[in-house]
Amino acid sequence: MYATHTPVDHAANYLVRAGITAPSLFNTQPWQFVAREAELDLYADPARLLPLTDPDAREMVISCGAALFNVRLAMRHLGFLPVVRPFPDPWNPAHLARVSWGSYVPPGSDEELMFRSVRQRHTHRGPFHSSLLAQPLIHELRDHADAEGAELHTVGSRSERTHLADLVRTAERAQRSHPGHVAELASWTRASHGSRPDGVPLEVCPYHPDCTALPDRDYLGIARTMPSPPAVWPTRTGLVALITTQQDSRQDWLRAGQALQRVLLWATVHGVAAAFHTQPLELPRLRAEVRAAIPSGQFPQMILRLGHAAGGRPLPRRSAASVLSAG
Ligand SMILES: Cc1cc2nc3c(=O)[nH]c(=O)nc-3n(C[C@H](O)[C@H](O)[C@H](O)COP(=O)(O)O)c2cc1C
Repeated sequence: MYATHTPVDHAANYLVRAGITAPSLFNTQPWQFVAREAELDLYADPARLLPLTDPDAREMVISCGAALFNVRLAMRHLGFLPVVRPFPDPWNPAHLARVSWGSYVPPGSDEELMFRSVRQRHTHRGPFHSSLLAQPLIHELRDHADAEGAELHTVGSRSERTHLADLVRTAERAQRSHPGHVAELASWTRASHGSRPDGVPLEVCPYHPDCTALPDRDYLGIARTMPSPPAVWPTRTGLVALITTQQDSRQDWLRAGQALQRVLLWATVHGVAAAFHTQPLELPRLRAEVRAAIPSGQFPQMILRLGHAAGGRPLPRRSAASVLSAG
C-alpha cells in the first residue's frame, strides 16, 4: 500500500493513460488496473463481457492484451524495461498480467515512434484509398507480430480472399438476423458521443457496412432498411490479413492482443489505418473454416484490413482514474 499522490501513483497513472487508448471489441474497454508498490496489475473486467458475441472472453483478453502492449510501451518511453508476468495468479484467470519496472535502458527510436502513435491510432470503417501498402512495410509488420509470438498472415490470393469474404458475409448475416446479437450490438452503439465514455458512436460509421469486399458490423442497423449499398468499392478493401497464434489458450489470446497493437501502431507510424472484421471468429463453425484455410494451421485471432485513409476520429474512453485503483 502507498499513500495517494506518491511518485508510484503518478507513474501508474501515466502507464494506464497509455493503456486505455487501446482498441477493444465494441469499445467495451474491458480492463481494470491495480497499482501496487512498483507493480501494475491488469485484470479483465467480467462486467464488460459480451455474452453472445464473445462468450469465451477471447476478444476481451485480446483487447486487454492490446492495452498491455501500450503499458509496456509507455514504460519503455520512460526508459525502463517492463517485466511482465502473464497470468500470475493460477486461481484467478481474470488476472491477466503483472507488470513491474525492470532496469533502465533508453528507449529505441522504433519504440518512441510507436509510443507517439498511441493517440493517433483509430479504427477505420469503410473504403481505403486505392494505393497499396509497400512490400517492405508488410515485412516489417510481419516481424512486429512475430516479435510478440504471433503471426501476421496476409491473405494474398484472390481465391483465399473471396473465401474469407464469404465467411465474413455469412457470419455478418447470421448476426444481423439474430435478435440477441442485434440487441447486444445496439446496447454498445451510441447515437452520439453523449455522456457515456464507451461504446461505438454512430458518426464513426459513415458508410454502408457492405461497401467493401468484407462486410462490416451493421452498427447503424442500416442494412435492414437499405439491403444494398448505394456504392461498392471492392478494389478499395485494402490488404486483408489475420493475426494468428500457434495454440488457442488464454496466453495465446493475450499474446495476440499485444501483437495486434504492435502491428497497428507500426502501421500508424507509416500512415496506415486498420479496419476489423472479426465476425466469423465469433461463431465456432465459421472460425474452424477460417482456420482450415490458413496454410500454417494456426488459430485465427483477428481479421483486419490495412490501408491508407484520411484522418480518423478518436472514440471516447473511460478515464484512467475510473479504471485504476490502488492495491
Ligand atoms: C478484439 C477486437 C475485435 C474488434 N472487432 C471489430 C469489428 O468486427 N468491427 C469493427 O468495426 N471494429 C472492431 N473492433 C474495433 C473496435 O470497435 C474499436 O477498437 C473501438 O470501437 C475503439 O475505437 P478505436 O480503435 O478507434 O480507438 C475490434 C477491436 C478489437 C480489439
